[in-house]
Amino acid sequence: MKQDNTHAAVKEIVARAVAEPSQVLKTLGEPRLAGVQTLFRSDSLTILNVLWGPLMRLYPHNHLMWAVIGIYGGREDNAFYRRSENGLIELGAKTIDTKDVIPLGEAVIHSVTNPLEKITAAIHVYGGDFFATPRSEWDPKTFEERPYYVAHLMRVFEESNESLPAAEITSAGEK
Ligand SMILES: [Fe+2]
Repeated sequence: MKQDNTHAAVKEIVARAVAEPSQVLKTLGEPRLAGVQTLFRSDSLTILNVLWGPLMRLYPHNHLMWAVIGIYGGREDNAFYRRSENGLIELGAKTIDTKDVIPLGEAVIHSVTNPLEKITAAIHVYGGDFFATPRSEWDPKTFEERPYYVAHLMRVFEESNESLPAAEITSAGEK
């Protein structure tokens, strides 16, 4: 595989951006609803504005490409897994707060929880076309592996919005 420093360079750029959350909020707007907004998409790079609804959970999944996550409002609890004969084994967890950045390798399997009762806002960058790459998701209870569907991902965000009246959703930027 070709080695390059794109992953490390993107981590630095995202770190610089989320170091000033107010600037990101000014550019992307105050989060009002859970959702995934595509800021840039090509064969080699995808940049998403990911808005996790209050207490929202996303089932384990892989990316099969490197990723960088930077938080500009709120908190993400990431749990990491590896495959085993009986599904998945949890390897550990990492909480990332506002201004934090984590790089994820191509082999990572993770689940994400927003532990807060307000929206968590994050920049997610992927080293490929996030929407066109076949990969896997796992049932959160049985850990059964199945194909990853973007439509399923979007449904989880919609359900988060449906679970709360919009007026009750306060964003991470409103402290
Ligand atoms: Fe992910």
